[in-house]
Amino acid sequence: MSSILKAVHSGTEYPIDQVRFTSDAGELLDVAHDLDELRSRYKISREYFQKKRSIINDQPSGGVWHFKELVMPDLHDDHIVSKMEGNTRLYRSRSVAAWLGLKYEKFFLKHEGENPTGSFKDRGMTVAITMAKLLRQKAVTCASTGNTSASLAAYAAEAGLTGIVLIPKGNVAVGKISQALAYGTKTLVVNGDFDDCMRMIREAQERLAAYPLNSINPFRLEGQKTIIWETLLQLNWKVPDWFVFPGGNLGNTSAFGKALFEAYELGLIDRMPRFAVIQAAGASPFYRAYKDHFASLTTQKADTIATAIKIGDPVNYPKAVRALKWTNGIVESVTDEEILEAKAYIDAAGIGAEPASCATVAGVKKLIGSGEIKPKETVVGILTGNILKDPQVIVDYHFHRTTGLANPPHDIEADIQQLQMFL
Ligand code: F0G
Repeated sequence: MSSILKAVHSGTEYPIDQVRFTSDAGELLDVAHDLDELRSRYKISREYFQKKRSIINDQPSGGVWHFKELVMPDLHDDHIVSKMEGNTRLYRSRSVAAWLGLKYEKFFLKHEGENPTGSFKDRGMTVAITMAKLLRQKAVTCASTGNTSASLAAYAAEAGLTGIVLIPKGNVAVGKISQALAYGTKTLVVNGDFDDCMRMIREAQERLAAYPLNSINPFRLEGQKTIIWETLLQLNWKVPDWFVFPGGNLGNTSAFGKALFEAYELGLIDRMPRFAVIQAAGASPFYRAYKDHFASLTTQKADTIATAIKIGDPVNYPKAVRALKWTNGIVESVTDEEILEAKAYIDAAGIGAEPASCATVAGVKKLIGSGEIKPKETVVGILTGNILKDPQVIVDYHFHRTTGLANPPHDIEADIQQLQMFL
């Protein structure tokens, strides 16, 4: 076996096929791979992944399972539950780059909203649901601000497992709750916030043996690592100066850090990029801990229009701190108004993304303003979710605003002359 479960701080080890999510001392677990063994077994190199053609379920795959050797090396292909996640585009945009004051050739947006259920969660879900099935779990659960529940629902349907999702009442965008219902998962609307739901899931795992597919599940993070590797492959392994992305439960922060650490250890990259994690001002415990040199995490009652990241007690905090140390990373916070402005620019560029994703670009804008990101640097922003996840925010912006990029509809009669006025 090339992989084990390993406690983040103490290094206590457990077998990879043991159903557990924390060490006996309560620490988070990593999936730890024997990188030296894998390097020599597969002759891992940049060219290896550039030349490799991967086939999953009889189809050319790419994406998450293109990196199977560094995700779940000992897994038999026949066990993989996949919807061909990944292979997302790396966009460039003249208008957004100009608005930010970055060079067009050096600013990229990796669109994870192009995954099968419309968010990056699918990258983690394919790995975690595969493991749930392999470990003979019957019911899978999650707490969610929406996207995890949509993804779990679709993958549970595919895998033939019972899915139960907990979502906070009144705080999940309509696109996401629609998916959970439509894909046939049991949707429990909790009279509480996301952090309450998350506490219930952790308790249900301990007391009811319900298998959680939240990012405390270390297999989720193994899949999400591939966002970074796929981007590096798209950039011909040229390391950007910055990766910028939103932080909520801090699963991506943790997974991306691990991806870069492993890439560096394997010699796939020769320097580390820097992270800029962006939080919404009303849901910014990580930002405040960063400002306090990570002395402690103070949880908060979260509030932001970007409901996907409306989280006040992030479960992956210890792993995220480690990732920031590895990447000399920073954390910034942006207001809802800044998120909406950035979203208007991304949407108007014809790319589009849900509000939480747009915190990425609002953060880039702010960090350029403060001089932290330099105009000549190469920046990769991660757009985490699809524009159609949260149509209500779009309708509210364009119907009711008169400023900025607001683009309200016009009512006309069925008369060609009225149309002509708009030409
Ligand atoms: N962006 C989107 C669109 C998300 O859905 C989430 C998290 C994040 C960013 C934050 O990522 O947790 O890795 O820091 N959504 C979770 C959910 C919490 O339940 O769908 P993170």
